[in-house]
Amino acid sequence: MGIRYIEEKKIFHLSTKRTSYLIGLSPEGYVGHIYYGKRLSGDGSNRLLRMEEAPFTPSVRVREKASFLDFFPTEYPTGGIGDYRESCLDVRSESGSIGCELLFGGYEIRKGKPSLPGLPASFGSEEEVETLQIICEDEFFKLKVFLSYSVFPDCDVITRSVRIENAGEQHLKLEKVYSACLDMDDREYEMLTLAGSWARERHIQRGPLQYGKQLVSSVKGESSHQEHPFLALLTPGTTQETGEVYGMNFVYSGNFLAQAEKSQFEQVRMTMGIHPEQFCWNLRPGESFQAPEAVLIYSGSGLGLMTRNLHDFYREHLIRSKHQFAKRPVLINNWEATYFDFDAGKLLAIAKEAKKAGIEMLVMDDGWFGKRAFDDNSLGDWTVNEEKLKSSLPELVEKVNKIGMEFGIWFEPEMISPDSNLYREHPDWAIQIAGRRPSQSRAQYVLDLSRREVVDYAYQCVADVLHSAPIAYVKWDMNRQLCDIGSAWLDRESQGELMHRYVLGVYKMQERLVTEFPDLLLENCSGGGARFDPGMLYYSPQIWCSDDVDAVERLKIQEGTALIYPLSTMGAHVGDCPNHVVGRNTPFETRGHVAMAGAFGYELDITKISEEDRSKIPEQVETFHRYQPLMQRGDYYRLASWSLKKPYDCWEVAAKDGSEALVTFVQVLAQPNMHSRAIFLRGLQKDTEYVLEDTGEVFLGEELMNCGYLIPPEQGDFRSRLYHFVRKQREK
Ligand code: GLA
Repeated sequence: MGIRYIEEKKIFHLSTKRTSYLIGLSPEGYVGHIYYGKRLSGDGSNRLLRMEEAPFTPSVRVREKASFLDFFPTEYPTGGIGDYRESCLDVRSESGSIGCELLFGGYEIRKGKPSLPGLPASFGSEEEVETLQIICEDEFFKLKVFLSYSVFPDCDVITRSVRIENAGEQHLKLEKVYSACLDMDDREYEMLTLAGSWARERHIQRGPLQYGKQLVSSVKGESSHQEHPFLALLTPGTTQETGEVYGMNFVYSGNFLAQAEKSQFEQVRMTMGIHPEQFCWNLRPGESFQAPEAVLIYSGSGLGLMTRNLHDFYREHLIRSKHQFAKRPVLINNWEATYFDFDAGKLLAIAKEAKKAGIEMLVMDDGWFGKRAFDDNSLGDWTVNEEKLKSSLPELVEKVNKIGMEFGIWFEPEMISPDSNLYREHPDWAIQIAGRRPSQSRAQYVLDLSRREVVDYAYQCVADVLHSAPIAYVKWDMNRQLCDIGSAWLDRESQGELMHRYVLGVYKMQERLVTEFPDLLLENCSGGGARFDPGMLYYSPQIWCSDDVDAVERLKIQEGTALIYPLSTMGAHVGDCPNHVVGRNTPFETRGHVAMAGAFGYELDITKISEEDRSKIPEQVETFHRYQPLMQRGDYYRLASWSLKKPYDCWEVAAKDGSEALVTFVQVLAQPNMHSRAIFLRGLQKDTEYVLEDTGEVFLGEELMNCGYLIPPEQGDFRSRLYHFVRKQREK
């Protein structure tokens, strides 16, 4: 496993536990893509590049560059020289033309993986990961392109990134730089993406791949509610356990484009990178540009294996926080409890009641700063509104701590309200196009984080508050998308860099935050789940999944999210009923069971809910803590899907050593005249006996996995149950 260069064949063989990735060279030096898929014991051959075939029919039997390149499966296509499929790199020269031709110029293989300056990126020790760097050159521009491939054998993941270096004399402009490309022959692939909107993020959608280009993207300045930087191609009929899956996920939080293109010769090209719209990067002589990282994964055993490998990969090689595997505090957040209408008295009343119920942290949400009593002012003025709170922050935190709870706080540091002292003082700090009336969204503008002084100011505001009192947790929100893309700071030539520089500014701030406050538990958020992406996971071990906490809506949202991301990353709370977004009533137990699939908490006024509901909280908190270690490290199996029109939803987390498994079953809609439901467990040891904790019944692992466990029929909608199976202790 790892990376080998087979000199006589001119082939690079990258291999993981179950996959092989082969790169070959044409006689001219084009870097071709030979194969990605099931692990090969041999090293394949360059014949798969089809270099002997006439590229065009009828054709003279000479290799004409344009028709050859339009057919050649390549590792990194460039625009303007005859490959008419999607390009990954468009370079504009001083003369104004676009065209760049890359030929192999050398390689390097090393243990470990270098970090990417200014960008989030996966990591691993020298024992865990190996990196290949292929150097390509454009002779004409004296441009060097470094294609990096890092191989993580245990998770079947290969990450890719690209660095472009201008070693010539021309001032070049990069109009498009993608991070990854994968060329394959079509196999009637289906395309799977995650789509949605505010309050219904990341629903799984799947359909046949057609000729032409199918894509998901964002030009909103963030990864977005609507589309997600993830794309998978599946062989027809792929299930959780069968079929082949090619997945790509982008470690980036801004504009992206993820595309599959089926071309004339039934070839498929998957590409992923920063969206080229509104992007133009100056590459002056001597400068270089680093593109973000893309994660590539292949599973020959259905979606489930992809999911489990990605969960392991993100847990072990992307999320850095010390909180990741630690006991996470169960929190109560006052947003849906009070919205903007609160003071210290109200918060303390919530805290006291919450403490009695076993909840461990109080989070003060939006509305504590400036003169903020509604959402139309004060972003940027991060001074505590003591008049509204009727308390200073240190006093409030001290009182909460005395009650026996930790304290957390909400910020939205990237924003500026037109009605704020900051805006009155520095109107040019907002992203706007000079001379044009800027668009407000939620009555706010976005700060120009391409500007160092703005980053410094915004960061310092957060840091000052955190230094003023013992604050254990920050919810970092971002409540509007970017438009009016103009910076008063960047010169005319550099305006096309703003969208990417903005994201780099966000990363700079979060890097400083986690460095200066290493104990802080950081939860990212963006109007619910509009920035739930691998880039953010590098800084925060949990991200607010959605503003919709309705237990039924959450089933689809969490199923889509957990298709890629570990359960422990999904911020999930028990909300009040009727639910504030959809008005639905669901049992308190069900809300608890669904939220326990993620980073657990409450989003309600505990002083106002019924005594009956309140009395259930201590047990929920205990249950969450009991199963948390299993959920944080175990293998996740999707057993049934409400999203696939089943009347119920079911998932399982099994310990990696097969010692226990927790099944969550949600009967969404009751069906008349129906018997028990068989669910088929996974990840158990077949010859081992398991005890179902609640009833004491004993089952053989193979029975639970092959014959199934029968979920008893029950009346009523929105009912849920947990089933905990534990390996039976051998009698001495
Ligand atoms: C966003 C968040 C909510 C809440 C509000 C506060 O919508 O997703 O959880 O914090 O902002 O304004």
